[in-house]
Amino acid sequence: MSTSPMMELLDIKKNFGSVNALKGVSMTINKGECHCLLGDNGAGKSTLIKIMSGVHQPTDGQIHIDGKSTIVKGPRYAIDAGIATVYQDLALIPLMSVSRNFWLGRELTKKIGPINVLDFEQCNSILMSEMKKMGIQLRDPNQSVGTLSGGERQSVAIARAVFFGAKILILDEPTSALGVYQTSNVLQTIEKVRAKGVAIVFISHNVSHALSVGDKFTVLCRGETLGTARRGEIDYDELQFMMSGNKKLSELQKDG
Ligand SMILES: Nc1ncnc2c1ncn2[C@@H]1O[C@H](COP(=O)(O)OP(=O)(O)O)[C@@H](O)[C@H]1O
Ligand SMILES: [Mg+2]
Repeated sequence: MSTSPMMELLDIKKNFGSVNALKGVSMTINKGECHCLLGDNGAGKSTLIKIMSGVHQPTDGQIHIDGKSTIVKGPRYAIDAGIATVYQDLALIPLMSVSRNFWLGRELTKKIGPINVLDFEQCNSILMSEMKKMGIQLRDPNQSVGTLSGGERQSVAIARAVFFGAKILILDEPTSALGVYQTSNVLQTIEKVRAKGVAIVFISHNVSHALSVGDKFTVLCRGETLGTARRGEIDYDELQFMMSGNKKLSELQKDG
């Protein structure tokens, strides 16, 4: 891709006391690309994305955003820079309506005489159309999130992040708790988001989920990267084998 990367992680290290969770990991995130981060439990995936989203500071290493060296000071800073993370627990409130969850304190207002009031109609109609764009036909904007399927909830959280300006969308294991049908809905949502030019970092330990949406695949193993391969350069068996920590990708390690 000719444009400069949206985000680069350069030789990122992270220690928690004596635990070396990341031992020098580099990764490049480009516009409109879905970059899969694979690795077994404890590989360092969550630690890496928490560094990207300002939850943790790296012990060492550099982060570049739009070509500039940047310190992602905290989660608020990351969100303002367009880096949004959808965690597994989603931060949705099951008993509240889909619409309230989508807007969560950012509801639109309108003036009635001198008074500002929440514009529920406008909020609901934007929600319905944003969800429709993701391929989800809600029955009613006022239905509670608790009545949605797991896949639909993921899609609400993703749609919300994108609507509020995410340029880089980080998804931590979005499909790990879902069945086959729900997984395919979420993968379709990811596909639609990517088509808008949003960069996606997709964390998974499921090789087939990753292969069905990924443009690039980075495998982490015990805090080290085993390399980055592009779609077409690597197949299911090779990725699965790397996940077990047995093989480096040096012969495929191009520009990341
Ligand atoms: N806040 C923390 N304090 C101490 N150790 C941590 C902390 N977070 C993660 N770790 C350790 O860092 C390593 C990588 O964890 P993590 O990034 O959660 O891996 P993954 O998401 O790939 O399963 C593990 O050994 C884990 O125990
Ligand atoms: Mg994790």
